Amino acid sequence: MKNIISNPFIITGYESPEYFCDREHETEELLNTLENGRNVTLTSPRRMGKTGLILHTFHLLKKRRPNAVTIYLDLLPTESFRDFVRLFASEVLGKLDSNPVKVIKQAVSVLKGIRPNITVDSITGNAKIGVDIITGEEEHTLSQIFEYLKQSTRECFIAFDEFQQIAQYDEKNCEALLRTYIQNIHNVHFIFSGSQAHLLNEMFLSPKKPFYQSTSNKSIGPIDLETYFKFAARFFKKQGRDLPIEVFEYVYRKFDGHTWYIQKVMNQIYGNNSPTLDEAAVNEAIGQIVGENDYYYQMLLRSYTKGQGKLLRAIATEGKVKEITAGGFISRHGLSATSSVKNASKRLTETEVLYKSEDGLQIYDRFFGLWLAQKGN
Ligand SMILES: Nc1ncnc2c1ncn2[C@@H]1O[C@H](COP(=O)(O)OP(=O)(O)O)[C@@H](O)[C@H]1O
Ligand SMILES: [Mg+2]
Repeated sequence: MKNIISNPFIITGYESPEYFCDREHETEELLNTLENGRNVTLTSPRRMGKTGLILHTFHLLKKRRPNAVTIYLDLLPTESFRDFVRLFASEVLGKLDSNPVKVIKQAVSVLKGIRPNITVDSITGNAKIGVDIITGEEEHTLSQIFEYLKQSTRECFIAFDEFQQIAQYDEKNCEALLRTYIQNIHNVHFIFSGSQAHLLNEMFLSPKKPFYQSTSNKSIGPIDLETYFKFAARFFKKQGRDLPIEVFEYVYRKFDGHTWYIQKVMNQIYGNNSPTLDEAAVNEAIGQIVGENDYYYQMLLRSYTKGQGKLLRAIATEGKVKEITAGGFISRHGLSATSSVKNASKRLTETEVLYKSEDGLQIYDRFFGLWLAQKGN
């Protein structure tokens, strides 16, 4: 059954090709690489569209190869090797066979270190398989999951999203372990995706690391302006409204084409039903979005030190700052000594409050940036 969408500008997850803009070239490249048996590393800043691209690619893969199994794992919430194995086991189990009884039987006989359980969703009535792992059996279970995948002989495509997360686990050999299994399984192909390019690059491009040169590396940037405009204008046309290209371009430039921000603003404008679509309508929409987060941003700002807060305001006011330690920037904003500005910016970049792009340092969350710029003056 096709879902009825009240607002075509999706701001979470993936719905269907109809609501997914472009990425044709990237999708084709991903499909081609995976179908030729190569694994892929996919990077971009947060909210540019990696997860959407993976899910879109899997959607098309299933159409092309109905027998293939696609498994998507979001590693962001995992904090340990144990979490990882548990998530991996539960996703793999449900996918290779949809008959829960058969799955449990197989699981018990093949994956000896796990304790599967079935829970029934009280709303949909669907059975969901969960697993728990016997303490101390994590490593063994991982090897069994790979054995299970291998034995199934079905072609599988597995995405480890936010893969850099595994570098945060206390267990240090996780990378090496995974690499060994991945190297030795030929019916399964992998996507490793992540927002922290420096961590992923360290994993895949450093000769000292187990995953060194084991994948095809791809990164994605903004969707092309004109293609994005056509996609957006079509939805407004259906509503009987005309979206001028200048107005779309105004939004696009304001957020440097960063996908989620464009979607969010378009979603708001679409819902606002204002009779004319002009810059004023855009600014009103942005004002609403920023305003909704006012309380949260205040709390957020309070969580930083005074010096960090001052630096954030200074950067937000300028938009992008090429040289953070330049005398002009420091004196213009009455910031303290160069060394403490340096330290603050290092800390804020590590925690992803600031983002270093080719154009300079900026506030990662652009709506927060706009809020800071307003409050700062
Ligand atoms: N090609 C696209 N067309 C329309 N919306 C998209 C597209 N790619 C991503 N989005 C939207 O932008 C949001 C952020 O994308 P996401 O894939 O989650 O980014 P990332 O995984 O890089 O952080 C998603 O919630 C989705 O709604
Ligand atoms: Mg994502």
